[in-house]
Amino acid sequence: MLTLIKSPFLEYKLTILRNKRTKNSLFRQTMNEISYLIAAEVLKHIKFKKIKIQTPIQNTYGNEISNPLIIVPILRAGLGLVEGFVKFLPNVEKGHIGLYRDEQTYQPVEYLCKLPKVNNRTILVLDPMLATGNSSSAAIDLIKERGVKVKNIKLVSLLAAPEGIENLRKNHNDLHIFTCSLDKGLNKKKYIVPGLGDAGDRYMGT
Ligand code: URA
Repeated sequence: MLTLIKSPFLEYKLTILRNKRTKNSLFRQTMNEISYLIAAEVLKHIKFKKIKIQTPIQNTYGNEISNPLIIVPILRAGLGLVEGFVKFLPNVEKGHIGLYRDEQTYQPVEYLCKLPKVNNRTILVLDPMLATGNSSSAAIDLIKERGVKVKNIKLVSLLAAPEGIENLRKNHNDLHIFTCSLDKGLNKKKYIVPGLGDAGDRYMGT
C-alpha cells in the first residue's frame, strides 16, 4: 500500500528543501518541521485500542496505541524524520540502522544495526530518500530476520522514485509505504530526479 502525504503547505516546505540555494541550517529546520507533518499522517494508520479512564469528572473511554512503536531511522538522512515522532511520542523506542551506499555498485553496505526487542511492535523505518530502494529493502530484511512480519513494518519516506517503490513491492510485498512525492525517477548516479540532492549531506551540513 502506498500513502501519498499531500498538502499545499507541505509542498511549500518541500520546495524549500528542493531549492539548491537553501542553506544547510534552513534545510535542517525545514526537514525537522516536515517530520511533524509526516508523523501526524503516519500515526493515523496505527492501531489503537479502547481503554477506560477517569476524567476529574467521570468515567469515560479513550484509546491507546495497541502495539508499541519503534522508530528506526536509516543513518544518516533518516535522522531528519525523527523529530516529529519523538515529540508526539516522547517514550517511543528507537533503533538505528547504518547503511552506506557503495558508489560503484550502488548496493547498501551495513555498518550498524542496533534494534531494541521487536516482538509485538510496530516498526517505522525512516528513510527520506527512497531512490533505488536497496537501503530500505536491506533495512527491512534486517528487521524481518528478527521475526517481524511485514504487516508490522511501515516505510516512511519524504521523496520516492518509482524504481524504489517497485523494488520494495518486489521484495516486501504488502509493505505500507508513505511518501510526500513520487518523483520522476533516478539519474545515472541513482539520485532522485528532480529530488533534492544528498539529503544526509544537506541535513548534516557536510
Ligand atoms: N540519497 C539521497 O540523499 N538523495 C538521493 O537522491 C538518493 C539517495
